[in-house]
Amino acid sequence: MKVDTLWRRRAAVNVADGSGYLLVFVYAWVLSVGLGAEPLGPSDRPEAYFNGSSYIHLSRPISLKQLVGLSFRTCVGGELFSQRFERYTLHVVALYEQVVVSWTLGAQSTREVGLPKETLDNRWHWVALRYRPNPPALLLEVDNHTQVIANVTWNPELLSAGALEAGGAVVLVGNLFSGCIHEGPQLEFHAHSVHAHNVLFAHCPLTTDECQSTHSVQII
Ligand SMILES: *[C@@H]1O[C@H](CO)[C@@H](O)[C@H](O)[C@H]1NC(C)=O
Ligand SMILES: *[C@@H]1O[C@H](CO)[C@@H](O)[C@H](O)[C@H]1NC(C)=O
Ligand SMILES: *[C@@H]1O[C@H](CO)[C@@H](O)[C@H](O)[C@H]1NC(C)=O
Repeated sequence: MKVDTLWRRRAAVNVADGSGYLLVFVYAWVLSVGLGAEPLGPSDRPEAYFNGSSYIHLSRPISLKQLVGLSFRTCVGGELFSQRFERYTLHVVALYEQVVVSWTLGAQSTREVGLPKETLDNRWHWVALRYRPNPPALLLEVDNHTQVIANVTWNPELLSAGALEAGGAVVLVGNLFSGCIHEGPQLEFHAHSVHAHNVLFAHCPLTTDECQSTHSVQII
């Protein structure tokens, strides 16, 4: 198998120069190629309730070169999904009157791009990151609104291979989020590929009343 050969060859290089760092990166890359290639499709428990101390940890890495997204319903908001790998973090958060994508890469300070839209209204909303290859750009989608997060002249670091395909990253859904999340592309809730903490997999138990008062969870 092609991956296998490359993996062994790189591993041999690694042993020769004694760099564990390279090993980690190659291992992560092999993981992303090996596990991330096949889309899983919908699971048999697509909807989940998060109470603010819940989260889902996905054991499969995500690729920002393919559509990644989910739907959510909340009056409170919080983090929808995030990934973290070494010194790279990326968060997508529903806040009062906006959805924000923030990221840190290497020694760079945290940057963020927001899309102004009220989503803390107890109605279902769609959020996604969509990669457009030509010309390269990463877009934030909230319902039918779109906002450029990165392109060749603006936040280009997010379009680097390491950021788009952070194989081996820790991917969390619904961390510090209160409300319901319906799975979406690359963020599926298959029992064999997620570790869930305090998550209730069920039809959204929230009432469909209007929100009493909206306030957002602040996450930095
Ligand atoms: C998004 O959809 C809503 C309702 O379907 C519509 O009223 C609105 O004009 C649309 N916005 C854009 C930017 O297409
Ligand atoms: C990149 O995005 C910014 C902000 O939307 C825009 O002003 C700029 O024209 C874009 N650059 C390219 C090359 O598309
Ligand atoms: C969330 O649910 C878990 C398990 O049912 C419970 O232990 C925890 O206290 C709850 N947290 C909040 C903030 O309600």
